[in-house]
Amino acid sequence: MNLILFGPPGAGKGTQAQFLVKQYAVPQISTGDMLRAAVKAETSLGLQAKAIMQRGGLVSDEIVLGMVEERLAQPDCSGGFVLDGFPRTIPQADMLHAVLSRMGRSIEHVLSLEVEPEELVHRLSGRRSCPACGRGYHVEYEPPQQAGMCDQCHVALVQRDDDREETVRNRLSVYEEQTHPLKAYYLAKGMLRQIPGIGSIAEIQQRISSVLAG
Ligand code: AP5
Repeated sequence: MNLILFGPPGAGKGTQAQFLVKQYAVPQISTGDMLRAAVKAETSLGLQAKAIMQRGGLVSDEIVLGMVEERLAQPDCSGGFVLDGFPRTIPQADMLHAVLSRMGRSIEHVLSLEVEPEELVHRLSGRRSCPACGRGYHVEYEPPQQAGMCDQCHVALVQRDDDREETVRNRLSVYEEQTHPLKAYYLAKGMLRQIPGIGSIAEIQQRISSVLAG
């Protein structure tokens, strides 16, 4: 199963990707996670990406595509993959399809999670994660048992730098300008499946399963 999980920041792509990884035994390829790892490791790519990510802009198409191409060539992607946060521009989509076609592969599903902007701001500004195990929480929708602490590791939860409200609003406007046009791109190819992204995490999992089964 070669799948793109599409949607604005905070739509639930990372949350639903975790479900797909377990359900279909395919790896998640999150360009945001890969870039954050590069920033943390202070690689030259990470140093280039850091300031752009902090203000909520998009890292260059060439950098991101190089990362994804290398990842897709790894053996664990041979049975399929879930792309989360990629492609994010029309040139990225064109380049992805060229890379896959050189590998004799193609995208089978583009699932678009549909959520209103004010809900996105609420979700992102309340998102927290554990710096030790990476588990995600939301202060209201998915709170830890003890406020501010990971249920498993008992260490203090952290907020992503780009989840502060001002940066979130910038990410949403970058999405509207540069990423939203991909919906029309995939609609024109007959590949886009729109999934209402409001409801419980389990309800949305169920909607995704129905679409993939259909
Ligand atoms: P990235 O990490 O990809 O961030 P994003 O796309 O902005 O997505 P998020 O991770 O913020 O949201 P999500 O949809 O995964 O939501 P989540 O499941 O966590 O990118 C970060 C940056 O990297 C970009 O700004 C850019 O600079 C750079 N970058 C990355 N890819 C790039 C590319 N291809 N090209 C160029 N630059 C790139 O959910 C959010 C919250 O809501 C959580 O707290 C969760 O618990 C909660 N939640 C989830 N589902 C529900 C639900 N149904 N009900 C209630 N709460 C829910």
